[in-house]
Parts: sequence; structure tokens; C-alpha cells
Amino acid sequence: MPQNIVPDTVALDDAQDSVIIIDQTLLPGRVSIIGLKTAQEMYDAIKRLQVRGAPAIGVAAGFCLYLLMKHSEAEDPSSYIKELLEKKEYLNSSRPTAVNLSWALNRMEKCARNIIDNAGDTDFSTLRARVTDALRLESIAIRDEDVEMCRRIGEHGVTLIKEGAGILTHCNAGRLATVQYGTATAPMYLAHERGMHIHVYCDETRPLLQGARLTAYELSSAGIETTLACDNMASSLMKAGRIDLIFVGCDRVAANGDAANKIGTSGVAILAKHYGIPFYVCAPITTIDPATPTGDQIVIEQRDPDEVTDLWYKERMAPDGSHFSVYNPAFDVTDHDLITGIVTPAGILRPPYDQAIAGLFR
Ligand code: MRU
Repeated sequence: MPQNIVPDTVALDDAQDSVIIIDQTLLPGRVSIIGLKTAQEMYDAIKRLQVRGAPAIGVAAGFCLYLLMKHSEAEDPSSYIKELLEKKEYLNSSRPTAVNLSWALNRMEKCARNIIDNAGDTDFSTLRARVTDALRLESIAIRDEDVEMCRRIGEHGVTLIKEGAGILTHCNAGRLATVQYGTATAPMYLAHERGMHIHVYCDETRPLLQGARLTAYELSSAGIETTLACDNMASSLMKAGRIDLIFVGCDRVAANGDAANKIGTSGVAILAKHYGIPFYVCAPITTIDPATPTGDQIVIEQRDPDEVTDLWYKERMAPDGSHFSVYNPAFDVTDHDLITGIVTPAGILRPPYDQAIAGLFR
């Protein structure tokens, strides 16, 4: 694998027709860089969480759609668009909750339609080459904008951190969930870079352990003091006065500020309110969805029961049988009134969020 394309969580290897990712299911034990070539490989990688985190799956899907359409043999605009829509819908069906996935794919579709609709009499093979080039640039722009948005979230978020702060985070909204920097972790990296002493407490994040396997790994590797705690220890940390503020990521923010994020996030927000600790959601613009009025309309992904009962154990750690079932939603929704602020690339939004979010998109 060429070394120069590895540092980002998601990268495009145009020469090899591959989307390059770090297989996150193997971290932290093994750093395995893999190339995804087909629609099914990308679908499976997103579904299995080899690539995960709202912004990262959007970027990966954008690269993938470009590579798939690069090899289109469609001979007229309508069959080209039909093929693009089929591939787009297939990739989009891999995970429902993070809006970044559909957002990136819609943006790619719009880009292709724009060129085709304004083509005039251009013959189709010339036009197809032009669309391919535009899709390549669009997918790279989605990647570059993600990097820039996370950097800016860091700039705004770091203003909330005081020297010596104890910060709690849930799941992984780190660089592994984006292209670089992360969202919730961007202010932490920046504080550390500026010589501030911070201590980050990572919720383990049952059942898939993104906090333990990914956040604790990436922050401690960067030299940031990191403590891992099981999810049910967060209250004890807060009561002990060790948490000054909370940064979490999100998968979709509704127009009223309700925010879907990894299962367990809403519980952290409720605890934070009880203990009077500020709770911030970090969101790139691409994760804010003004078309979804409230959290009630956000589709929550339900995952395989095995993740709870079997995945990390040598033998099954739960009963089985007809009177037994498992509840395994991947995300929950934190009500907007539990959120102190939403840290975006454009600044920190404060309640009332319906107005602040409407203003952001005006
Ligand atoms: O199921 P995952 O691991 O993809 O869930 C990820 C999260 O919930 C993240 O907090 C969210 O996507 C924000 S990433 C910047």
C-alpha cells in the first residue's frame, strides 16, 4: 500500500481504483490498511464498522461513488443517471442514522446532474469523461471540507477548555471518525498542542467499545492523559468532581437541536444536567439536518443482538430461547434542552436551537 495516502482515516487511491481505510474493527491491536474497490465491499465495510463515524462514512461513500461511476459504460445520460442512482441507493442503505452518508451521496448526484443538464449537444462519451472528472473533484472537495470543518470546530471548542480541565467523551468522535482531527476531539488536540494540561475520560461505549478501542487509543497515542471508564462509571466520575465539561459527536442534529449520537449519549447528558456540568455536541455543518424537524423523526439503526451477547466473549454471556431478546439500538437522541451548546465550524450555537440552526442555513 502506498505510504503517502495512509495518514487520513479515509483516502482515495485513484490509480488502484480503491478507497483506502484503516480497518477499525481490528484497532487497537492491529493497524490494517485496506483498499475497497466494489460497491459491496464499501457497503459491508460501513455496515461492519470497518469505516465508521458520521463524517468518515460520508467521505468514504463519496470516493466510492466516484470510483464506481468512473467505470460506467452507460451510453446515454438517462442510463448513466439510472446507474448512478442504483449505486447511490445501495451505498446509502448501509446505515440509516448518520445524515452525512446521504448528504455526501446526494451532493455527488447533484454534481453529475449539473454537468449533464448543462451539456448542450456534447457527445456522450466526452460528457461522461467530464462528469467523471467533476465527480472526482467533488469527492475530494467533500474530504477537504471535512478536514477544514473539524479544524474550525477545534478552534471554537478550545475556547471552552480551561487549564487542567477534566473532559468526558462518549464513543469515538475522534480522527478515526472523520478524515483528520475529529469533531469532539478537535478541541482536545488543540488544547494539548497549545500546552494546556487536560485529562480526558473515555466512556468505554458498550456494546462495540468505540471509546475503549478507538478514542482511548488515539488520544493516549497523541500524548493526552486518558482514562478509560465503563459507561456506568460516568456518574461516579461526575460526582467526584473530575469532569468539568463534556464533548460528544453526533450523527444527525435535527432542526430543533435534538442530536442523535452513539447509544448512551443521552444518559450522559441527563447526568451532566444533574451535576451541573456543561454538555457540548460537536457538529460539522454536514451533520446538521434542517430537513428533520425533531429527534423523533431520526431513524435509529438497530444492530445484531450478537454484538451484546457474544462478540467480546469466548462463550455467549446471555441466555437464549424463546422468552429472551436483546435490545441493541446503535444510537439515541439527546433532547435539545440538555445540550449546553453545539460547537460548529461557524461558531458555538446556543439555545434556542431552532433559531440558531435556521440562521446557520440562511
Ligand atoms: O456506530 P458508530 O461508531 O459509527 O457511531 C459513531 C458515533 O456515534 C460518533 O459519535 C458520531 O458519528 C460522530 S463522529 C465525528
